[in-house]
Amino acid sequence: MGKLLIANWKMNPKKESEALTLARASDASHVVICPPFPFIATAGKALKKAKLGSQDLFYEASGPYTGEVSSEELKSMGVSYVILGHSDRRRLFGEIDEIIAKKVSAALLNGITPILCVGETFADRETNQTFAVLDRQLKMVLSQLPAGTKEELIICYEPVWAISTNLKEGMEPPTAENIAQVVEYLKSIVGNSGVSVSFIYGGSVNSTDLKSYLDIPGISGALVGAASLKPVEFKKMIKIAK
Ligand code: 13P
Repeated sequence: MGKLLIANWKMNPKKESEALTLARASDASHVVICPPFPFIATAGKALKKAKLGSQDLFYEASGPYTGEVSSEELKSMGVSYVILGHSDRRRLFGEIDEIIAKKVSAALLNGITPILCVGETFADRETNQTFAVLDRQLKMVLSQLPAGTKEELIICYEPVWAISTNLKEGMEPPTAENIAQVVEYLKSIVGNSGVSVSFIYGGSVNSTDLKSYLDIPGISGALVGAASLKPVEFKKMIKIAK
């Protein structure tokens, strides 16, 4: 199949030794591993086939930005992908579309492929705001792209309510039809802006349903959270995505 699997470990695991074991178990082509910052170097050294990703970056190149990490720094550690605009960052750290747009630009200017997360919250969905939210999130980033961007932008549709840690009892993640509809909508926003984009899906993806997501027209991969922390489960997913 040759689809992309992006492992977002979020703030896991707790120890470097565990990160090393997990990185070795997840090392395969078409895989991107995004460890927490302290384990980026360790994971980077362990990976032979998988690519290294970051869970965030700051848009400035260097300077007095305590606690932040630049694209140049990440690039020097072998990072080639970065997750930006994840709902955790938007919700817990006040990241607004303007900031995310600057981060996407910084990544592109430094040859790091951005994985831009867009998606509606449960409240947005309940009030029929899904398309308005997607529109706002994507248009801001597109309007700030560096002139003549040739690099690829990966757009991840990740409905916030469908993330495993948010999914309410009795609720199902979106159907293939819903996702296909969103991808069509996002494509229409990108239009003929000249930017090269690909689309992936994220939200409670596991080995049982991965194939059904990857089979959706226009979907070229998945962003995986909880399941990427389980080596046996993630290995199954790697086989399916190959
Ligand atoms: P889950 O796969 O645990 O739902 O997490 C999705 C996610 O937030 C990936 O970035």
